[in-house]
Amino acid sequence: MSGLKRNNSLIYFKDSDKIIKNLISMAQDELLSLFPTPVLIAQYPMPYDKELEFIRELPCRRENKGGDAGNVIHYNRQSEETFVLDKPELSNIRAFIQSKIYKFVTEIMNSDNELVITQSWINKSGKGESHHEHVHPNSMISGVWYPVISEQLPPIQFRSKAQRDVSLSTKKYNNFNSATFLLPMKAGELIIFPSNLTHSVPANQSETERISLSFNTWAKGSLGDINSLTYLPLERCV
Ligand SMILES: [Fe+2]
Repeated sequence: MSGLKRNNSLIYFKDSDKIIKNLISMAQDELLSLFPTPVLIAQYPMPYDKELEFIRELPCRRENKGGDAGNVIHYNRQSEETFVLDKPELSNIRAFIQSKIYKFVTEIMNSDNELVITQSWINKSGKGESHHEHVHPNSMISGVWYPVISEQLPPIQFRSKAQRDVSLSTKKYNNFNSATFLLPMKAGELIIFPSNLTHSVPANQSETERISLSFNTWAKGSLGDINSLTYLPLERCV
C-alpha cells in the first residue's frame, strides 16, 4: 500500500499480490475513511473568572423569536459587540484561540497561510432557547469557546453534508452511517472546525444559562497557487 500526491489528489495503489491475498483472507480487508472532517478540541489551561465576569456583563440582543404563531421558536441571544476578541479583557482567551488556530492550520491542514480572527461574539441561551442549523459564510475555519457548559446543558450538534436521500436501516450508529453528531463539551474547552460544517444547538432545558464565544477567520494576504490556477490576488479586489 502506498499513497502518492499528484495534482492535489491522493492516488492509492495496491500491489497485485496483495489483492490476491485479500481474496484468500477476509481478515486482511481494508476500510478507508476518505476525506474526514477535522474538529480540534482544546482545553483553556488557566482559570478564567475575570473573563467570565466580563462576558456575563456584555449587553446582548433582547429576546430573539422565530417560527410562526403556532410554533414560536426562541433563539439564543448574541452580544451587541461582534468583535469581542478585540477587547483587552479577553486578550488571554484570544492568545489561546490564536495558538490553536495556528495548530489547526499548520499541523492539520499542512498550510503556511496565516489566519486572522475576523468577527467574534458571545451567544447566551437561557431555558427554552436554541440555535438553528447554520454554517459560517465568508470564513475559513470557525470555532467556539465554552466558558459555561455542562452535561446538563445542550451540546453542539453537527450535520454531515454527505447525507444521502436514501438510507439503509441502522442497528448501531458509527462514523459511516450517522447524519448528525452531538458533541458534549467541558467548561473551558474550545472547538475549531471548517466554517462550512453545518451545526446547531438544541433547546436549553436547564435553568442555567449556556454561554459560548464564537469566532470566524480569514487568510491574510492572497490565496491559492498560480500554477494550480487557484491564485486569488487580493490586491486586485480592493
Ligand atoms: Fe455557529
